[in-house]
Amino acid sequence: MTYQHDYQRSLADPVGFWAEQARQVAWFRAPTQVLCERADGTHQWFADGRLNTSFLALDHQVEQGRGEQTALAYDSPVSGSQQRFSFRQLRNEVARLAGWMRALGVGKGDTVLLYLPMIPQAAMAMLACARLGAVHSVVFGGFAAHELAVRIDDAQPALILTASCGLEFDRVVAYKPLLDKALELARHRPRHIAVWQRPQLAASLVPGRDLDWQREVQDAQPAAPVELASGDPLYIMYTSGTTGRPKGIVRDNGGHAVALRFALDKVYGMAAGDVWWGISDVGWVVGHSLIVYGPLMAGCTSVFYEGKPVRTPDAGSYWRIIEQYRVNALFCAPTAMRAIRKEDPEGRLLSRHDLGSLRRLYLAGEKLDSSTHAWLESVTGKPVHDHWWQTETGWPVTAPCAHLDGSGARTGSSNRAVPGYAVRVMDEQGHVQAPGQQGDIVIALPLPPGCCQTLWRDHERYLQAYLAAYPGHYHTGDGGYLDEDGFVYIMGRTDDVINVAGHRLSTGEMEDVVALHPQVAECAVFGVRDEIKGQVPLALVVLKDGAPLETRQLQAELVARVREQIGALACFHRVRVVKRLPKTRSGKILRAVLRKLADGEAFAPPSTLDDPAILQEIAAVLAAG
Ligand code: COA
Ligand code: AMP
Repeated sequence: MTYQHDYQRSLADPVGFWAEQARQVAWFRAPTQVLCERADGTHQWFADGRLNTSFLALDHQVEQGRGEQTALAYDSPVSGSQQRFSFRQLRNEVARLAGWMRALGVGKGDTVLLYLPMIPQAAMAMLACARLGAVHSVVFGGFAAHELAVRIDDAQPALILTASCGLEFDRVVAYKPLLDKALELARHRPRHIAVWQRPQLAASLVPGRDLDWQREVQDAQPAAPVELASGDPLYIMYTSGTTGRPKGIVRDNGGHAVALRFALDKVYGMAAGDVWWGISDVGWVVGHSLIVYGPLMAGCTSVFYEGKPVRTPDAGSYWRIIEQYRVNALFCAPTAMRAIRKEDPEGRLLSRHDLGSLRRLYLAGEKLDSSTHAWLESVTGKPVHDHWWQTETGWPVTAPCAHLDGSGARTGSSNRAVPGYAVRVMDEQGHVQAPGQQGDIVIALPLPPGCCQTLWRDHERYLQAYLAAYPGHYHTGDGGYLDEDGFVYIMGRTDDVINVAGHRLSTGEMEDVVALHPQVAECAVFGVRDEIKGQVPLALVVLKDGAPLETRQLQAELVARVREQIGALACFHRVRVVKRLPKTRSGKILRAVLRKLADGEAFAPPSTLDDPAILQEIAAVLAAG
């Protein structure tokens, strides 16, 4: 099989191509309907197929003779623990947890919110929900109470599963008080809350409401996997959009299973028995696709890491893990490698470890700068691949396909479109751009299996956000260009989304928080370049006349508000007071111009700018630091 052949076929005959891929999945009932189009332009894959994702990830692997193989290898330098779960052990743990949830009344179609650190119980909880057909929504631990409350109100969970704490470099993060606060803010009341008590910190439980996870589940009866329709939702993953309200990306069971089987094999080159390491957190899409579901459904061992690239305890921990678990391939965000490079530029810590098992490294989540790319290839001596995808797609859009030959890499490109994705570049009028010309990156419909086809309880918003701008196409929100051979070059988001340390955040949401301060007349928040984190937010604020607070105090208050409302992960530390903001004559703030100004990039002041002198004033404020 070659890349060109498969790619062309996937677009010319999507039904035939994906019907063939679907045969790799152990359905309870194999689909006969491959692709249905709805009147609104969205699609349904494998409509009459019946399956269960937890069965595919666990029971099926045991049936295939992998019962004793390690499924999850938990390695936690922050807690000093390591634990291996075989497929059989994991299946048993998950079945018991699912049985307990079922006894609580949780069943198919109920939502369950997980606010959990990177402990194996997070993966178990996801798989237990999947077993029952309950829809999980994992909220990243770095989000503060307000963000959690927004997600609780949108997902309306019957049950919330949490842990007493998360562990950072330098501190224990108490999760339970954050959840308690979120529940005070939220309108929705879950029926139950269960808390996994970690030895580092005991959470206090509210009598009559909170349950002790360990105690409750130990004697539960196991639950068998429930047969589900392909289109039944597996999970909701909230992601930042351009407004303060996050989008609830919905993933189906059937399309997801087919897409991930395809991706693990053809894109990542993984086979059953291989060891895979998805370096992320279950709070992100990568954690769903590449820590839990993808590797397990492919029969791989998944390394489950609770730690950082540096300081847990040092910049050698990634290389230690690769050696210790004989990792064959990994996914990682460029930020992590930049952090390692900063502390160990010569690769001295790396040279103490045997990376012989490692075949290749995949990087995504944000732009991979060519300097980090070259450094990583030189210190590891392994191929390093940039690839591009989004929470919405759930699996790679562009990538080198390890098991389909003929897709060489090009510097600065996130590679060519993966089979199934018809990637195009268009201008605002919907004209396809010639090679080399920049524009909006879109994907012609139908999106391949696995991609999000609706937003939780808001289908209209899905249609507006993704399908309205370019009829017949999905609008990715990224800008860039293609070269004459189809290699894709991502230049960055064209909306108010930024990527901070590979974490997707909305500057619009930060603006909402800043603008609510009583002394702020108006503000603009945008992403500026950061040596390690890729981007960090910068706020320019205009004060109301006679604002009494001294600048330093105002800055501190705004930083505290964003941390309190959105979370520490926003890395919101930079606030500058300016007299005015540059706007078009119709009053639109020129954020793209501000970003270029702050990054020191060349730009021509737009003719729509009402007063060009404003830019000089702002440049002076930024230069003053
Ligand atoms: N729970 C609670 N707080 C969290 C958290 C979590 N799960 N994750 C991050 N935070 C907090 C951190 O403690 C930090 O708080 P602080 O401002 O009090 O120090 C803040 O959020 C920012 O965290 P982080 O972005 O991790 O910055 P850092 O300076 O602590 O670490 C790196 C820098 C480069 C090591 C880190 O950003 C990193 O590992 N990046 C890679 C991330 C990644 O793999 N992303 C892939 C997503 S697909
Ligand atoms: P998320 O939904 O959190 O996975 O973030 C998706 C966004 O991250 C994309 O829309 C891009 O803006 C960015 N992104 C992901 N991968 C890459 C990449 N390889 N190069 C540049 N940007 C990327």
